[in-house]
Amino acid sequence: MTSPEEQATVKDEKEGTVASELTRNGGVLGYRRDDLEINPPYLYPDYASTRTRAPKRPLVPMPHTLSEVTGPVYGDTRIGELDHDLTRQHEDEPIGERIIVHGRLLDGDGKPVRNSLVEIWQANAGGRYRHQGDQHPAPLDPNFSGGGRCMTDDDGHYEFVTVKPGAYPWQNNPNAWRSRHIHFSLFGPAFATRLVTQMFFPGDPLFFQDPIFNSVRDERARDRMISSYDHDRTVEEWALGYRYDIVLRGREATPMEE
Ligand SMILES: [Fe+2]
Repeated sequence: MTSPEEQATVKDEKEGTVASELTRNGGVLGYRRDDLEINPPYLYPDYASTRTRAPKRPLVPMPHTLSEVTGPVYGDTRIGELDHDLTRQHEDEPIGERIIVHGRLLDGDGKPVRNSLVEIWQANAGGRYRHQGDQHPAPLDPNFSGGGRCMTDDDGHYEFVTVKPGAYPWQNNPNAWRSRHIHFSLFGPAFATRLVTQMFFPGDPLFFQDPIFNSVRDERARDRMISSYDHDRTVEEWALGYRYDIVLRGREATPMEE
């Protein structure tokens, strides 16, 4: 007789049952672990906060449990019609350079990750976050909150409309400024695969002194965090397009923060 765990399947509201074998020999099949060569180290002294928050002892890998390898399931109704458009969440439009950020969410085998939540947050065009922790002297924009979300489609594609974030100072070291970036959270197919990363813009003059960007030590891996200008998605008289494909696992993986 098989146990409930051995019979486990993932229910997907949109596409019906995705019959996934999640267990073998009584144990839960986990996901591949992060590649420690590609991802930034927990302790990177140039990024000052890591000195206090990095684990002081060797990590103890815990086996994945059933609730981690099954996914969060989102109904379409939970995502608002304008959640992907950060320029239409208030009465008027925000100040700044309007941009379209889009791309595909792929797994390590190059297959699209469908129906998966993508969340972003970012500073406004002046480089200021709407957050208590950000009190540096740049203006808040009453028409910009800086948060958005959407689901990937059947091709793994996502798209946001927003304004280009400004660079901001962050007191990590003398005259420290973050390269312009957009934070991304990606759930992928399961809780255990949720990853957080940052998207950068091509040609940013601040890369050389940004220890968060440089904590990814492999240059080719760093390049995978930089979006590319997309003239085909640029809309005449309206917005510039940027493309940012994200690979969740494998050799071509986008470096992640966690
Ligand atoms: Fe940031």
